[in-house]
Amino acid sequence: MTRRSCAIYATGIVCTHLLIVGIALVSYNQGTELTLTEASRVFESWKNPPPPVYMEFYFFNVTNPDEFLAGGKAVVSQIGPYTYREYRPRKIVVQGDPMVDNLTTVNIPAVMVLSKLNSYSFFLRTFVSMYMNSLKMGIFMTRTVQEVLWGFKDPLLTKLHSIKPEVDEHFGLMWKKNGTHEGEFVFLTGEQNYMDYGRIDTWNGLSQMSWWSSNQSNMINGTDGSVFHPLLSRKELLYIFAADFCRSIHLGYVEDVEVKGIPAYRFAPPYDVLQSSTENPTNAGFCVPAGDCLGTGVLKVSVCRGGAPIVMSFPHFYQADKKYINAVKGLNPNKDEHETYLDLNPTTGVPIRSCKRAQLNIILNKVQGFPKTKHLNEIIFPIMYVNEMATIDDSSAAQMRSFLGIWF
Ligand SMILES: *[C@@H]1O[C@H](CO)[C@@H](O)[C@H](O)[C@H]1NC(C)=O
Ligand SMILES: *[C@@H]1O[C@H](CO)[C@@H](O)[C@H](O)[C@H]1NC(C)=O
Ligand SMILES: *[C@@H]1O[C@H](CO)[C@@H](O)[C@H](O)[C@H]1NC(C)=O
Ligand SMILES: *[C@@H]1O[C@H](CO)[C@@H](O)[C@H](O)[C@H]1NC(C)=O
Ligand SMILES: *[C@@H]1O[C@H](CO)[C@@H](O)[C@H](O)[C@H]1NC(C)=O
Repeated sequence: MTRRSCAIYATGIVCTHLLIVGIALVSYNQGTELTLTEASRVFESWKNPPPPVYMEFYFFNVTNPDEFLAGGKAVVSQIGPYTYREYRPRKIVVQGDPMVDNLTTVNIPAVMVLSKLNSYSFFLRTFVSMYMNSLKMGIFMTRTVQEVLWGFKDPLLTKLHSIKPEVDEHFGLMWKKNGTHEGEFVFLTGEQNYMDYGRIDTWNGLSQMSWWSSNQSNMINGTDGSVFHPLLSRKELLYIFAADFCRSIHLGYVEDVEVKGIPAYRFAPPYDVLQSSTENPTNAGFCVPAGDCLGTGVLKVSVCRGGAPIVMSFPHFYQADKKYINAVKGLNPNKDEHETYLDLNPTTGVPIRSCKRAQLNIILNKVQGFPKTKHLNEIIFPIMYVNEMATIDDSSAAQMRSFLGIWF
């Protein structure tokens, strides 16, 4: 079974509702020849229409960029949500208008270029520094939300493009990501063992990654988060491959919940997932190069972002070291708004509700030859976070309830 994943990181319900009946048939026909593959094919039509998936983008608007560059503490204020449905840049519910709202944030293309320049000659650095000054371009930029999200033509990248044509002239956090973009997944069908149902066999042709520094960290574990094996236990850890984080993560049971009359177990990533390697040595493999480790609650993903100094975390550095939260004024991590969780029906393994939250940050540091960066001292600067929510639609919920009522 090959299909494309549906969301920003290991998304929820989008591709899964066909399974309710698929699994029903499997449990009914245990021991006979009917397999999930065949059952799924019969119910292919369940795929349309998908349940609603909303993506809310929140940005950290920097209110004192000049003070920060002069050595002060940065102050951010959260703006948003800018809400989109699925991936299409089609806004539906919006507080504020992404087309006109101005956002001051890190000039990500410039910082990406600068971080590369550290390994180049002083001559080239000086040239770039002068060029940036001539364009009045600094470490921060003010753009509309629309531009930052869906792309704009960046003057520095345009200049690089004229020298190296493979460099894209455009920059945007979701640039060219209006479709599916997580790569090609091949999943196991669970024909031999239902516990393998939906497990990722390969991702972009790979059965494991190679960028992390231990074999354990490189493993592609579990599903893409949209399907799980039936008959879930409260004691098990569920693994999902989180493409945003470029790694597998695990979720543990939190509590029993009920969504639209359907019983569910809530699973969420425990604290140890992003724990620092000093506290949790099994995470040492996520330090690249080996030994170059950050603290708890943040994950450097340069290895899979073309070397850019990008760091992923939960929103507002939820569950992260105090030092990251306190480095910037205006952050207020809390469980309700910032935790990622999945509510799964334990009988079928089907996600009933999902809430996935991830924050994008960038490392700001001194660059030799750039006076503007002289007061920077390795700070993990928050840019934005995504809150991706999906809940089973009413008609699927009704079918699920009647299915659970009939058979159990
Ligand atoms: C972001 O902050 C700037 C000032 O720093 C302000 O002019 C702008 O209106 C803010 N944007 C939003 C959407 O509040
Ligand atoms: C954003 O900035 C532009 C140009 O500086 C200005 O024309 C526009 O009115 C600003 N938008 C808001 C909502 O303040
Ligand atoms: C993404 O947007 C581009 C241009 O806006 C369009 O050509 C392309 O078809 C879109 N892709 C998807 C999958 O919607
Ligand atoms: C990782 O796995 C490869 C083979 O799959 C093996 O050669 C290598 O020694 C392993 N590395 C570590 C650190 O265990
Ligand atoms: C993958 O799963 C194995 C156990 O099956 C575990 O030891 C390993 O830490 C997991 N790796 C990741 C990155 O989750």
